[in-house]
Amino acid sequence: MYLINGIEVSKSDFNLPIENLSLWRGDGIFEAIRIHDRFLFALDRHLKRFERSAQKMLFENIDFDLIKIDLQKVASNFTDGYVRVIISRSESIDSYDVLMFYQKPVVIPEYYSLETQLSPWHPGGDFSLEENQIVGTKSTSYALNITQTRLAEQNGFSDALLLNRKNIILEGPTFSIGWIKGDTVFIPDLKLGILDSITRQYINKFGINNLLKVKEGRVTVDEIYEMDSVFALSTAKHGKFVNKINEKNYEPSPLLEVIQACFKNEVKAEKLSNI
Ligand SMILES: Cc1ncc(COP(=O)(O)O)c(C=O)c1O
Repeated sequence: MYLINGIEVSKSDFNLPIENLSLWRGDGIFEAIRIHDRFLFALDRHLKRFERSAQKMLFENIDFDLIKIDLQKVASNFTDGYVRVIISRSESIDSYDVLMFYQKPVVIPEYYSLETQLSPWHPGGDFSLEENQIVGTKSTSYALNITQTRLAEQNGFSDALLLNRKNIILEGPTFSIGWIKGDTVFIPDLKLGILDSITRQYINKFGINNLLKVKEGRVTVDEIYEMDSVFALSTAKHGKFVNKINEKNYEPSPLLEVIQACFKNEVKAEKLSNI
């Protein structure tokens, strides 16, 4: 299912002129929201981040209420998968299109390995949100992230794990990271300039609700080797066990099952509260 500015179209209607700024410069913002049996999990959180991205990237006069209605309309046709929405700059600062489409569920490999890579273009803690308003924007300029995924794949890994110049673990090209030591679940802090991942927000929520013991922290590559377990977090990965980072193998922690159960319960609870 495809929508352009709220109107249902067919795939072949997505014709962008070469001067389109999202094509030319990657000038756009996006969100991807997971469908659980026609229900959009964490929709309001995604919309809030979308509004923040719009503000940071100087998109004005966007009707987010209408976008919400259209997202729900798309989701109402599917039992799983994702709705993706892009606000794409057209040919000048004040012109844009809202592009929306359904994406089938992503297949995540059972065995999941990550290769660490330095990310010189990533804010990585050198610039804070206060200093630079575009830190953490969910923009469509993703070519560098995707290239790091491809480089890792070429080296036989499932994906990359990005590092700042001090070898501190940041995030994946399309996911957040967390690790477990003893009875505690850790996530990196947002001051590192990582995306304010919605899935990561839920880990904090589970901590606040005393479902897990959660702390924010920073680790280098050498330090993450000492952790009991590592997991990936994203809209598509609600606590995916990481089997290996570089040459270090991990064992799944029983806490991972707790994390996954927390997400299942959260989806159920949110769905019920929306009926
Ligand atoms: C760079 C980056 N970090 C983290 C995430 C995870 O964010 P979320 O949990 O909102 O899907 C994503 C998702 O696309 C991402 O692209």
